[in-house]
Amino acid sequence: MAEPSYLSVTAHAYDAVAVQYADLARDELVQLPLDRAVLAAFAEYARGPVAELGCGPGRVTAHLRDLGLDAFGIDLSPVMIDLAREEHPDLRFEVGSMDALELGDGELGGIVSWYSVIHTPPEELPPYFAEFRRVLAPGGCLLLGFFEAEGGPVTVFDHAVAPAYRWPIDELAGLAYEAGFAEIGRMSREPREGERFRRGHLLMHRVSEGTEVAM
Ligand SMILES: C[S@@+](CC[C@H](N)C(=O)[O-])C[C@H]1O[C@@H](n2cnc3c(N)ncnc32)[C@H](O)[C@@H]1O
Repeated sequence: MAEPSYLSVTAHAYDAVAVQYADLARDELVQLPLDRAVLAAFAEYARGPVAELGCGPGRVTAHLRDLGLDAFGIDLSPVMIDLAREEHPDLRFEVGSMDALELGDGELGGIVSWYSVIHTPPEELPPYFAEFRRVLAPGGCLLLGFFEAEGGPVTVFDHAVAPAYRWPIDELAGLAYEAGFAEIGRMSREPREGERFRRGHLLMHRVSEGTEVAM
């Protein structure tokens, strides 16, 4: 039998903990003003429909809706999507993978990946950014939330649900740049009690074909 890919490992792992994850994460943003600030900045830049990719139980998708955005969510884990639909019946949620989106070219005004590309092995990540670029309209925004490597290289760590990677913020920005994204800004937040690592946030926009951008 073939070895399960990291995608099926991640999907099954999140299926198994979906209810506990939803309970833990449901009200987390209330206690995180800097995280809310970066989501609010994204909401000001985004124009048009916005997808939360790797939406889990949909609490960030709902927050984006509350910020006035036309938001929907996509996740690998069918159990997460069932929960998201139950908790937010007014929002659209679909099962799918971020690297193969059933969306047309230039269909979106913004993408939020909030701690979801963390599970993608580094060598697999470039096609994800290419897919994000494909579905974003020119000027569309990308917001990444992730764990910072804090001076070290890209490092795999024992995330509570599935193997995950910590990234040097410049290296992740560089990978997105190579796929056609220019940085608008970044936010680092120190871990609060109960968290292990510094949190990184990169806000970027999709550059139009043929535009020269400085790093
Ligand atoms: C740490 S959770 C974050 C969930 C949500 N963004 C939140 O903050 O509540 C990571 C989520 O990313 C999803 N995920 C990981 N890789 C994915 C992929 N390739 N495509 C879609 N979803 C993915 C997982 O199934 C999981 O629900």
